[in-house]
Amino acid sequence: MLSRQENELLCRVGPDAPMGRMMRRYWLPAAMSTELVAGTPKRIRLLGESFVAFRGDDGVVAVLDEACPHRGASLLLARTEGCALRCIYHGWKIDATGAVLETPTEPEGSAFAAKVRVAAYPVYECAGIVWTYLGAPAAAPPVPDFAYARVPASHRVNAKFRTDCNWAQSLEGAIDTAHSNFLHSANILPQAGIERSQAADTRTARPSQDGRPRILTEDTAYGFRYAAIRRPLEDADVKQYVRVTHFVAPFTAIIPYGDLQNVQLYVPIDDEHTYMYNVKFGPAPISAERAEYLRGGLDSDGDYGTIRNRANNWLQDREAMKTTSFTGIEVIRNQDTAVQESMGPIFDRTKEHLGTSDVAIIRMRRRMLDSVRAFMESGAEPLGIAEPFDYGEPHAVEGMLPLDQPWQRVLDSGAPV
Ligand code: FES
Ligand SMILES: [Fe+2]
Repeated sequence: MLSRQENELLCRVGPDAPMGRMMRRYWLPAAMSTELVAGTPKRIRLLGESFVAFRGDDGVVAVLDEACPHRGASLLLARTEGCALRCIYHGWKIDATGAVLETPTEPEGSAFAAKVRVAAYPVYECAGIVWTYLGAPAAAPPVPDFAYARVPASHRVNAKFRTDCNWAQSLEGAIDTAHSNFLHSANILPQAGIERSQAADTRTARPSQDGRPRILTEDTAYGFRYAAIRRPLEDADVKQYVRVTHFVAPFTAIIPYGDLQNVQLYVPIDDEHTYMYNVKFGPAPISAERAEYLRGGLDSDGDYGTIRNRANNWLQDREAMKTTSFTGIEVIRNQDTAVQESMGPIFDRTKEHLGTSDVAIIRMRRRMLDSVRAFMESGAEPLGIAEPFDYGEPHAVEGMLPLDQPWQRVLDSGAPV
């Protein structure tokens, strides 16, 4: 449970909110690479503000404030000219650095253009994701070159999803291993006799059906990692089934997924909407059939969300619940979206009752709240920036260990990709 004040501190991300100010000190995913095609600017909503991104003829992406610096027409409407935009209202031309190149409504020879700029933000495009940095330029941290960026494109699957609720609420679903035994029970196959859980050709398999995981956390420079320890289906008197998940500040979860790692970045659109950028990757090429499954059929609403929503009760099928389905909702992603959105846009955490399976959620809140308080009170560097670390290091892994071994030993069983 959080106090009302802590809940506000954790969730609000606008330009004046403490968490919003701290989030602006990190690189933020702004779009999938595939969303930005030369010739068509795209509106980017991030942390409650609007920007415009466009890919120039040179293939390089630029991110600018959305409003034209003349009188504020949206640059989403602009014509694209090479590596610049031309506002359709009065024809001002603005380049990728935010410089105004032409003000054609001004007298010939006017120096007016040189006096005006639009804010432009640094861009880092890597492994299918376009990142931007909105903070003070001198304070930009190193780019987040996660392990997925170090494998060939054939070894990775990118996807993007929207949930209509606060970023922390969605992230809490990602670092909540206990729900998988219930919410996703129809989609996870119990499979005994395997040393390290491997996905069947498409679906996920687990060598355990233990719904009461023991959760142990360990702080790291990037946030923390936790082990979920379950009784296996076989040899439970001598073995333990361990899954290690990582929280990388400010909003990333790295979750084991059989032979793959499942990276989920919960990027606030505003206080009440979130895009999740998802990269699943592994040490070998992923088949086209499996990639299709991993992208997750979603009944898309056209903006990475689902047509399943509060008004239609997420299309829950009561008949299916009587026979084959615990939830009456098909597809893992739809199940997550339904429960997260059902809590309301920002859940009132003064009303919750946290149990022993919620230890990782409590840890994430504590790490982020401690960081944002120190950031506001003493100007401390944020969590994940204060202490350098290698973004390639957090390695999500699952496996069997002898009962008498510490859980960290499971990290030895799979070398980082
Ligand atoms: S508002 Fe863009 S040129 Fe006038
Ligand atoms: Fe889930």
